[in-house]
Amino acid sequence: MKKYGEMTREELACEKKAVLSEYGKIKAAGLSLDMSRGKPSMDQLGLTESLLHILNKGSDCRTEDGIDCRNYGQLFGLKEARELFSSLLGIPAENIILGGNSSLNMMYDTVARAMLYGVPGSDKPWCRLDRVKFLCPSPGYDRHFNICESLGIEMIPVDMTPTGPDMDTVEKLVSEDESIKGIWCVPKYSNPQGITYSDETVRRFARLSCKAKDFRIFWDNAYAVHDLDENGDVLLNIFELMRGTENEDMLYYFFSTSKISFPGSGVALLALSDRNLEATKKIIEAQTIGPDKINQLRHVRYFTNAEGIIDHMRLHGMVLKPKFDIVISTLRSELGPAGIAEWTEPKGGYFISLDVADGTAAETYRLAAEAGVRMTRAGATFPYGKDPRDRNLRLAPSYPTKEELSEAIHVICVCAKLSYLNKVTTD
Ligand SMILES: Cc1ncc(COP(=O)(O)O)c(C=O)c1O
Repeated sequence: MKKYGEMTREELACEKKAVLSEYGKIKAAGLSLDMSRGKPSMDQLGLTESLLHILNKGSDCRTEDGIDCRNYGQLFGLKEARELFSSLLGIPAENIILGGNSSLNMMYDTVARAMLYGVPGSDKPWCRLDRVKFLCPSPGYDRHFNICESLGIEMIPVDMTPTGPDMDTVEKLVSEDESIKGIWCVPKYSNPQGITYSDETVRRFARLSCKAKDFRIFWDNAYAVHDLDENGDVLLNIFELMRGTENEDMLYYFFSTSKISFPGSGVALLALSDRNLEATKKIIEAQTIGPDKINQLRHVRYFTNAEGIIDHMRLHGMVLKPKFDIVISTLRSELGPAGIAEWTEPKGGYFISLDVADGTAAETYRLAAEAGVRMTRAGATFPYGKDPRDRNLRLAPSYPTKEELSEAIHVICVCAKLSYLNKVTTD
């Protein structure tokens, strides 16, 4: 088959007729498929079913040190839970704060605290400054961008490259502009591209030189242990790299078990330097007497140690890998020959990023929605929902069944072709 770009007008018209006919058949089938959010499937949730039954009576709720998890206290979380995540992530337990179930919540709170109180190194709370800006590697995670939008923080997109954010631009911007106070990073299996930052990128982050004395890296390592199989990517430990250096206060590190145990009832983590921790403690103390320790204890008893989590993640990989394979093989066979799209083929995480032809993502999204396939809204992967080239779509293979997924991806491929053909035949 010829690539679309090499077809004559007549050939394009003929192809459009065929694709339109396929689209008509799809619409007539009345599908209802949701590929919009990166949620674990029922099968995955079932993997930790017994976590729900691990504590059955009051006497089960005591820790090794005799702490009764049903009661108040332990502001930063249970010692054994902090130790569990310490050995998993290679971060000292004393630099870890465990929260509720959502790391996104901890990210919002961390930015909100900076707005209200400032951070170590700030002259004043960020909300008293004329402007606060964040760098937003794009495409990126829409909910990070929502935090900025909700708190009135100006977002500056920075291109993603196959090795992470474009570091030349990051270094230049942070060295020149004092109002740039933060950057969002998803360093392993980034959302949506599934890119893992190279060692060089991580090292450049660790030694960033910033004009703002209170600049912070928001290192959201949500997919730290989420490999599809044993050939997963390896990410340098930035906490270890920065610890004890003059930059150590620059790092806020986030993680959660949302996609290890349950998104609705996991354990979230914030890791930070001693100075950041002290400053944060003063504020958190006013906010709560302690997190949900019963849930933390459940996780400790269920997983026992870091190896227990790694072993468990192999099971998730076994559920997810065939789904990623379906998406990728369908994209290769249906969009590959047409030469109108590019996509990522990640080794882990929850997403595949699809770049359709420039100026056709919103239309592809619309056509798919009309045919009963819901995707993350076109544009959502960019600050303010504005994809400058209108080409990026985020595919989330985890939630649908394999059969639903095959169908949904076929629909998306047909819609991508149709929006391209509509565009070039009317241009
Ligand atoms: C990069 C990233 N960070 C954070 C989250 C949400 O984390 P949590 O469930 O811990 O709030 C997600 C969920 O999709 C995500 O993709």
